[in-house]
Amino acid sequence: MCGIVGYIGSKEAQGVLLGGLRRLEYRGYDSSGIVTLGDRSTLLRAKGKVAELEAKVTENKTIDGVGIGHTRWATHGVPSEENAHPHKSGDIYLVHNGIIENYKELKKELKDHEFVSQTDTEVLAALINSLYDNETSLESAVTQALQLVDGTYGIAVLSTREPEKIVVARSGSPLIIGVGKDETVIASDASALIGHTENAIYLNDGEIAVCRAGSVDLTDLSSQPLSAKVEKIEADMSAIQKQGYDHFLLKEIMEQPTTLQSTLNGRVDPKENRAMLGGLNMTQAELRQIEHVVIIGCGTAYYAGMLASYYLEQLVDGLTVDVEIASELRYRSFHLPKNSVALIVSQSGETADTLACLREIKRRGVKTLGVINAVGSTIAREVDGGVYVHAGPEISVASTKAFTSQVAAMTVFGVQLAQAKGAGVQELNQYINELADLPDEIEKVLAAHRDEIKEVAAKYTKYDHALFLGRDTLYPAALEGALKLKEISYIQAEGYAGGELKHGPLALIDDRFFEVMLLQDNWLFDKGVSNLAEVNARGGHVVVITNSTKQIDAETIVRVDTKLDALVPVVLNVIQQLFAYYVAVARGNDVDQPRNLAKSVTVE
Ligand code: F6R
Repeated sequence: MCGIVGYIGSKEAQGVLLGGLRRLEYRGYDSSGIVTLGDRSTLLRAKGKVAELEAKVTENKTIDGVGIGHTRWATHGVPSEENAHPHKSGDIYLVHNGIIENYKELKKELKDHEFVSQTDTEVLAALINSLYDNETSLESAVTQALQLVDGTYGIAVLSTREPEKIVVARSGSPLIIGVGKDETVIASDASALIGHTENAIYLNDGEIAVCRAGSVDLTDLSSQPLSAKVEKIEADMSAIQKQGYDHFLLKEIMEQPTTLQSTLNGRVDPKENRAMLGGLNMTQAELRQIEHVVIIGCGTAYYAGMLASYYLEQLVDGLTVDVEIASELRYRSFHLPKNSVALIVSQSGETADTLACLREIKRRGVKTLGVINAVGSTIAREVDGGVYVHAGPEISVASTKAFTSQVAAMTVFGVQLAQAKGAGVQELNQYINELADLPDEIEKVLAAHRDEIKEVAAKYTKYDHALFLGRDTLYPAALEGALKLKEISYIQAEGYAGGELKHGPLALIDDRFFEVMLLQDNWLFDKGVSNLAEVNARGGHVVVITNSTKQIDAETIVRVDTKLDALVPVVLNVIQQLFAYYVAVARGNDVDQPRNLAKSVTVE
């Protein structure tokens, strides 16, 4: 979604800002803009890709040392140059992530400003400007304005009257301030800071900062000074580069053996027959008391939670587990039984609905544990405890390596819970060994099947509809397979539990559809084969992905050789990721930045 960058220092701001905006492209956007201040101010905005903006910068080069920039993902008003940020009012320029909910009421009061865009952001710019008289500092005008605002924001504000500072503030939308020697870089996402500085201040909600070249002053909304905590940014340059792959998505699929190993390092020890997550901030006695787990997430994170819920139920005797879509749960009058804990699952750690659930659950006094990838993200900072999955920056909009790491981390949690509740060594042994073997198994499967899947994908690019089917733990995997295919290939794809076929979806089978059936060689194999027969009998075009060597009747069969059992869905899912990738590439799509989607969904 929208991205913010800002720079103040001795370098040419335009170049730094454009570089930052390119780093933020992965988040999804439809227009961009920058303004820099020098002898005069230079505001440049463009609809479409950052490359369009870059062309304008080439024609309007400046050597200014201060500026702010933005990538916009349209919410209020169509993608257009007028609606792109920065917005101007009087002497000030503003970039904004989030939504000003009371912008209509505020707009009515701002009669002196001639509005040229349809955005809520321009209203905030006009509001700040209306409070910015000759006696008032920029930070004071911003502070007063924010007290009148309902909604969420991360903002950066510049004034031609005070070009030696950038004022930033946040409430519900992230902002990070990179403090270098004699320069300060601002971004809504740490990836834009990499290469500039390793020292960052993560702004908290309700904080305002006045950024000058190499120094930062922090206050709260009542202008009380706060001391800033400077933290280290963990990611390095290689993590945000394609490293020879055509797309970030393929890189992120292929690097799963390594990223998963980072998730498991120090947490799974087959020799000692132990699995343990540090950071839960719970004693053994507290763990023993847990009777109910609610897992909350959106999209792929939700499906990871759903798959993990099967494992938690299998691992921990008597435990009840619910998995909830955050955007639904937050508006329900839900009840959490006594002795519950909530697992809050999010790659970005910024998803607005997931964050809203976290806050509501905390308000009820229920323990919250994060399963988060982005270090320093809002959810990671607000949970009571939890783990980073350490999958590294996920740049492609479609989530792949985060899913694998999330499932693994939650499975470790299941083993830990079972251990605390006194489960026998034998019972947990299988899971611990499978977790330890998973990175190698995924590596083997990726190497063995990459070319084959490319060929298989070529056969199915012509279809417009797809059904993904699986039973038991393969059901959430089927849902995830369908999501991955639809979001990057634009083929309409739905996931179903195999047993549901006869209850409706069987009516869909015809030559416009193909079906992906996940089959595991276990006690449900024959049931899956019956489902397959039902589809075949109606002329289906079925791709079976299986770990079985048994006789199977299908148009295409991908046979995966793995020694795993419980974690087979995670391995088969890797095949689905490759399949979705190659179908999308064959259809000529922008696989890393699918249309209409954003990487981090920070607004409802
Ligand atoms: C799908 C995808 C989305 C995200 C969802 C949650 O490939 O990327 O469905 O999984 O928006 O995002 P996080 O995990 O950042 O909360």
